[in-house]
Amino acid sequence: MRFNLLTLFPEFFESPLSCALMGKAREQGVVDFNLVNPRDFAFNKHRSVDDRPYGGGPGMVMALDPLAHALRSLENPGRILLMSPRGRPLTQALARELAAAPAVTILCGRYEGIDERLLDLFPVELVSAGDFVLSGGESAAMCLVEAVARLVPGFMGKEESGEEESFSAGLLEYPQYTRPEVYEGLGVPDVLLGGDHARVAALRREQSLGQTLARRPDLLGEAPLTGPDRRFLAQKPRTLLGRALYVALVHGPVLNKKGHTVTVSLTNLDLHDIARISRTYGLAGFFAVTPLEDQQALARTLLDHWTLGAGGRANPDRAEALGKVRVAATLEEAVSQAREHAGQDPWVLATSARPDGGVTPGAVRETLRERPVLLALGTGSGLAPEALALTHGQLAPVRPFGAYNHLPVRAAFAILADRILGDIF
Ligand SMILES: C[S@@+](CC[C@H](N)C(=O)[O-])C[C@H]1O[C@@H](n2cnc3c(N)ncnc32)[C@H](O)[C@@H]1O
Repeated sequence: MRFNLLTLFPEFFESPLSCALMGKAREQGVVDFNLVNPRDFAFNKHRSVDDRPYGGGPGMVMALDPLAHALRSLENPGRILLMSPRGRPLTQALARELAAAPAVTILCGRYEGIDERLLDLFPVELVSAGDFVLSGGESAAMCLVEAVARLVPGFMGKEESGEEESFSAGLLEYPQYTRPEVYEGLGVPDVLLGGDHARVAALRREQSLGQTLARRPDLLGEAPLTGPDRRFLAQKPRTLLGRALYVALVHGPVLNKKGHTVTVSLTNLDLHDIARISRTYGLAGFFAVTPLEDQQALARTLLDHWTLGAGGRANPDRAEALGKVRVAATLEEAVSQAREHAGQDPWVLATSARPDGGVTPGAVRETLRERPVLLALGTGSGLAPEALALTHGQLAPVRPFGAYNHLPVRAAFAILADRILGDIF
């Protein structure tokens, strides 16, 4: 495979392209590198490759002409990649895709970047090494070269060593150990010493799942998991974060459309659906809050029917979900019941369609590791100031940038629950 590297600093690549497996693969002709310096194609008086940015601002910009000439000089450019923080993230999937190509050309930016019109002149694909800014594209290009080259057939001694690695099966790799068996009192898992290949494979699979859950739970959504994998993950404490999350559906005090503080009627639909969502996401509890005694009685009648009565007997799954619902007269009472249940003060967060809230689902997820959280959902036109006064912050709304933002409360809750807990199962 051919790599054309366009760089103002070809010397940067001398050592990494000559040592270890890369040097060997190069000698064997598995990969070859064509280093091209755009400065050699700068035909202006001072052979300069950069200029000041139009519109002002700090730094310099790489000019088009030397790059265009350098690119046009290539016999076999293949896919043209520009290393850039604005690019598609460099992943194992992209590395695999590129390793199947006979050639790639990698442009290494310097200064403040490259004149944007290069993207109009050539079919350039932007690739990022990560969400950080480097001084130049060379080290990013080197990451790409290394990730791609080692997948080219003949690069690695044992072909299968690429198949067991992190990301290959959508998961992070299991931990590795080597001699000595005990070091400073630390041993290695017994199974690895026993020679039973099936048990070793099972342990490694579990370790791989555990590592991914602990470090990169976002990968699990796309990983091809088996039934036993799912059952293993379901037992892990990290998947049980919902156990510290409470939700309160407040029917009063809330605002009506005119901005008056009122109490609205509870609905059968909200009770059922929020209870089922809460059960599905493993929440610790759901409080139906209404200060009206007749509404509290109505809620209890409904709940009794679906838990202890005929509804519950006919539909035990529904009974299980509705068994989580508690009726409270005020948000304050719901908070105090959550405190008693969790043995700790919950972080009480308002939810609203208004774009004032800044608490992110990620922040809630992090907090749940340490402390219970209670989400207060408002019915009507949202929580009244008296209810808001009991909250410690506000969760960011579901559609902060949309002009029309009128989700049913149970739909909003389902989305919020999934954003907070969904990506960890
Ligand atoms: C100082 S950076 C320019 C950063 C640019 N002004 C910006 O804010 O996006 C110079 C060059 O380094 C390379 N570079 C910097 N960070 C990178 C990253 N995360 N991934 C890939 N290339 C990167 C790019 O080639 C870029 O043109």
